[in-house]
Parts: sequence; C-alpha cells; structure tokens
Amino acid sequence: MSHASSPSSTSAGAPHSGAHATDSHGHDAHGHDAHGHDAPAPAAPARRAKERRAIVVGASSGIGAALVKQLVREGVDVVAVARRAAQLEALAHDCAGSPGRVIPLTHDVARFDEVEAAFERAVRELGGLDLIVYAAGLMLEVGPNEFDTGKDLDMLGVNVGGCIAWLNPAANLMRTQRSGTIVGISSIAGERGRKGNPVYGATKAAMNHYLEALRNRLADWAVHVCTIKPGFVETAMLAQARAQGRTIKGAISAEDCASAILRAARSGKNEVFVPFKWRIVGFVIRNIPSFVFKGMNI
Ligand SMILES: NC(=O)c1ccc[n+]([C@@H]2O[C@H](COP(=O)([O-])OP(=O)(O)OC[C@H]3O[C@@H](n4cnc5c(N)ncnc54)[C@H](OP(=O)(O)O)[C@@H]3O)[C@@H](O)[C@H]2O)c1
Repeated sequence: MSHASSPSSTSAGAPHSGAHATDSHGHDAHGHDAHGHDAPAPAAPARRAKERRAIVVGASSGIGAALVKQLVREGVDVVAVARRAAQLEALAHDCAGSPGRVIPLTHDVARFDEVEAAFERAVRELGGLDLIVYAAGLMLEVGPNEFDTGKDLDMLGVNVGGCIAWLNPAANLMRTQRSGTIVGISSIAGERGRKGNPVYGATKAAMNHYLEALRNRLADWAVHVCTIKPGFVETAMLAQARAQGRTIKGAISAEDCASAILRAARSGKNEVFVPFKWRIVGFVIRNIPSFVFKGMNI
C-alpha cells in the first residue's frame, strides 16, 4: 500500500494534491498520527480476507456501507465511493478501529466522463485492486399512469451507465493482471417486466446481461464476475418505497445481505439470489405466461 488519501470530489475537477492525506485511521502517508508519533500497529483482524484492496461504489448507505464495514473488519483496504461526503466520512469514522482502511472518494457515477480519473485514483490509493463491487443504485417511485423520461433516464444513468463506466476499467485492469473479482448488485426486479416500475426493472435486466457478458469475456483471464440479485433489504431504498405506500415484508438486514454477497463472490458463484428463496420466486415469475402476467398487479 503506498499511501492513503483524504476525501475529495472528482466532480470539482481539482487534481488530487495528496497533501495532508489521511486514511480512516488518521495516519499520514508515513504511518504517523497527528502528533507525529509512530502509529500503533493495527489490531490483528479476526479473519484475513483473501482480498487486500477493494472499491465499493455506492458505499454511503445500505448494502454498500455494510459491505465496506465487513471488508475493513476483515483487514481489507476499501475505497468507498458515493456522492454524500458526510456519510462517507461517518463511515470512515465508524470503521476507524478496524484493521482495514476506509478511503472515502466523493463522486457522482452519472458523471461518466469523470469515472476513469476516479477509478485510476482509487487504484493508485490502494496500490492495486482485488475486488470491486458496484452497489450504487437509484429506484424512483413511478405512478401507475406516469411516463416520466427524466426520472427513467436518471435511473438508467446510475444503474446502468455508472455500472458500465466503473466496471469496464476494472475489467480491463483485472484482465491484464489475470486476477480479481467483480460484483454487481442487480435485483430480483430484473427478472420480468413488471408494470410497477418499467425502467428500474429494465436497468436491472440490463445489468444482468452486461455482467453475464463480462463474466464470459473474463473467464479465460481468471477474473470472476458475480451477479447478486437481492429481494428485499432494509435500506433507505426500501424505506422510500414504503413511504410511497408499498407494503413490504420479510426484508433482510443490509449486514446479512453483505455477508451473503461476500460469501457468493468468494465461492466463485456466478449468479446468486439473496436470500435463496428469491431464486424460487424468480423461477416462478419468469415462467408465468405473458397473457397471465399482463393482468397481475406486481
Ligand atoms: N434495498 C433493497 O430492497 C434492494 C433490493 C434489490 C436490489 N437492491 C439494489 O442494491 C443496491 C444498493 O441499494 P440499497 O438498498 O443499499 O440503497 P441505498 O441505501 O439507497 O444505497 C444506494 C447507494 O447508491 C449510491 N448512489 C446513488 N446514486 C448515486 C450517484 N449518482 N453517484 C454515486 N453513488 C450513488 C448512494 O450514495 P449517494 O446518495 O451518497 O450518492 C448509496 O450509497 C442498488 O443497486 C439497489 O438497486 C436493493
């Protein structure tokens, strides 16, 4: 690991100076604390993960934040990417005692032209890359008679455009180094064209297709690509759906979801429903004939 950085915004377009750079442990590039003392050796991790360096995109809340916490507990250094700087700072603060470091990176994934620089900077900060998780996502509630192109393109930008913009350079890097794991957080919503939210579901179907193609492309280069399809997970996204009047029961915690994601990625699974029961739901809804599905209110 060469050094760690303070958070900065790629949208500001300012070059990264590296001055006063500190990680979530408050140490500078030479392992000294604010008083110039040698940094104490970090506590031994409970379990060393096989990855050492990771990027989580969409890390400021929900599933992404839970993933960051779990990874740093296992001794992984993580660049945590999202727009909300304060949430990323709080996450780094919460993880300060962990064996791994949180390196916040403020960035809007819909600014596609800024992704390459952000990605390169993240890899430089980490000194390499073993794992990337694309967890950024946007689900806007859409009324039954609403056809709002602005909303739909916003979801497309975050869920698909940002995913491609971040995972393409990761795929290329991992191909050249012949190692690494790419994880995309899709959804059960991508299994079928539901009337409830046409474009959110379509973005997840597009993610599934893209991730499968990446997996097939990278298989010869020893790079693994894992597609995660969660059902309901207790996060801000679900709270927002409930606030719009949807009744949602049986959600799992973001922490349980994060554990299942890391288990799936590490065991080399290609496509995993979280929790498992959603695989059965997925199978059933994929096999409902169109003329029946058309009349269903799901
Ligand atoms: N919760 C569920 O029931 C559920 C079910 C199936 C799939 N999923 C998927 O799981 C993923 C994580 O969602 P979640 O449930 O954890 O929701 P969440 O708490 O709302 O998290 C969404 C994350 O995406 C980030 N994000 C959104 N727009 C962004 C942008 N333009 N640039 C950068 N980051 C952006 C947010 O950060 P900022 O706002 O700080 O930018 C936040 O960190 C999503 O892809 C979602 O579709 C969730």
